[in-house]
Amino acid sequence: MLTANYDYQETLAASVKVNWRIEDIIGGDNRLDFLQPFMPEPMARVESLDFLSAAEKLLLNQIRSFGYLYTFGVVEEFILPFVLDHVRPHLNEDDYRTRALLQFASEEAKHIHLFKKFAEEFKAGFLTNCETIGPPEEIGKAVLAHSPLGVALAILGIEWMTQAHYLESVRDDEDLDPQFKSLLRHHWIEEAQHTKLDTLMVQALTDNHSAKEIEKGISDYAAIGALIDGGVPQQVEFDMQALQRAAGRSLSEPEQEQFRTIQRQALRWTYIGSAMTHPKFLQTVGEISPGARTQIEEMSGAFS
Ligand SMILES: [Fe+2]
Ligand SMILES: [Fe+2]
Repeated sequence: MLTANYDYQETLAASVKVNWRIEDIIGGDNRLDFLQPFMPEPMARVESLDFLSAAEKLLLNQIRSFGYLYTFGVVEEFILPFVLDHVRPHLNEDDYRTRALLQFASEEAKHIHLFKKFAEEFKAGFLTNCETIGPPEEIGKAVLAHSPLGVALAILGIEWMTQAHYLESVRDDEDLDPQFKSLLRHHWIEEAQHTKLDTLMVQALTDNHSAKEIEKGISDYAAIGALIDGGVPQQVEFDMQALQRAAGRSLSEPEQEQFRTIQRQALRWTYIGSAMTHPKFLQTVGEISPGARTQIEEMSGAFS
């Protein structure tokens, strides 16, 4: 039994209070400044690639931000139908629950739209095309093929990850482009409510689950993590090609190897490790299955 002290009415009230409009964040005078980095260094990890010039490091930082926009667009595309499926069978039971979860779904639809707008502006302003793994529908389908508890745990990790990204790496970084920083800040503000609603979703799913079903949920969570991890090497190759095109030069073999080693780990931390290590995520997992918590903690070193 989970002990999280969250409730639908309070979450809904908080969500309505902080709600923002896309038009206030992007468009008009709100433009990306390509002279500044977009991603914080703990996620971008460009500085230790000492064979890159300062200008090339900036290019790679920005290429990584495009991957971030794309990846969050992808994950939110499977979060949206998952939340709608979760709310639909119980629409008449608790009006606050229905409204809070529909608000959650509506915010994710808005975030998908926002990330797309930023991606469009990025493409219009960046030197070269940046490729991404996918297509998003296939990734979403593969994730949603797992048990609802497995998917809910993966989503819970993703929501807490957005909190860690902003609070630990973005908020106090004064060198970031203010426009990209504003995107991450506004996302963080609304995701704070999603972390609570996701905990309530996990709670609802585990309340009537047998130990065997919980075990299945945990192994599905691990399988979804492996699925995401499986896409990392290809994305790193795309990023390296984009950098070489944008910089107008080829990296040597040893440089490419160093690039792969550092950037694979950077992506693993950004999209997996920062979720697995979040104390609130671990708390929820520990309440469902203390053994699973220990396993995740042991595995997380590989994603640091
Ligand atoms: Fe979101
Ligand atoms: Fe979210």
